[in-house]
Amino acid sequence: MQKLIAVENILKNNLHGQAILNGITASIIEGELITIIGPSGSGKSTFLSLINRMTDPDAGTLFYKAKPYLEMDVLQLRKKIGMVFQMPTMLPGTVRDNLLVGPKLFRETVTEEELDNLLDQVALPRSIKEQEARSLSGGQKQRVSLARTLANRPEVLLLDEVTASLDPHSSEGIEELIQELHRQQGTTILWVTHNLKQAKKIGQYTWVFADGKIVEQGKTIEVFERPLHNVTKDFIADAFDKEEVLTL
Ligand SMILES: Nc1ncnc2c1ncn2[C@@H]1O[C@H](COP(=O)(O)OP(=O)(O)OP(=O)(O)O)[C@@H](O)[C@H]1O
Ligand SMILES: [Mg+2]
Repeated sequence: MQKLIAVENILKNNLHGQAILNGITASIIEGELITIIGPSGSGKSTFLSLINRMTDPDAGTLFYKAKPYLEMDVLQLRKKIGMVFQMPTMLPGTVRDNLLVGPKLFRETVTEEELDNLLDQVALPRSIKEQEARSLSGGQKQRVSLARTLANRPEVLLLDEVTASLDPHSSEGIEELIQELHRQQGTTILWVTHNLKQAKKIGQYTWVFADGKIVEQGKTIEVFERPLHNVTKDFIADAFDKEEVLTL
């Protein structure tokens, strides 16, 4: 499998010149499903926004299939690298209107059958097409948001806390959809989550962020079962302790 994205010596500062990302070098191989964990403020969302080119680094280079990001058309890059956020933002209009936003931008036509397939893929009824998108439930909106990104046929999917505001049932539904997508289409996935059970269950590989660095990366099972870095050990122990308290 080829190296799809390479990130080399990335530095990203805030407006005061303090480092948000402080020397990140990493590779993403085609077809990998990587879960990204780490304390709040460690730079996870900033990292995803660089990969999607919503922002540029202050130093360092990103490559997509060995081509520097700066030499690529931004829209084309965002078509290939889709992103879904914690709070799904529905545009005015119907679900159909929302799903057609990307294809319209790229002057691509989508057949009725393709629309239905997208809805099937995210387990929404086909009849939902004509409903007002903003009137849907949180879980339904998140599915539409995912389908809207999938309408661009992305090669890479960036997910930032996509289940954080969903109830456990909807959350599991989304997890299953993503896993199915990964299995069936081999989509490369980077999934940032605060839910460590989810990160452990879903990931093939896991990266741990702390203080703007990737402090540990490896096979998910190894990162969780045999963490090497103290930050990872503490972070995992803390999270599971809190969860135990919550479930008592
Ligand atoms: N647009 C911005 N302008 C200034 N500072 C920012 C901006 N976005 C993020 N930061 C800062 O960068 C640091 C990393 O933020 P980031 O959102 O990437 O962390 P995170 O790991 O995603 O956190 P969380 O788990 O809470 O979502 C934080 O200190 C944050 O305040
Ligand atoms: Mg974040």
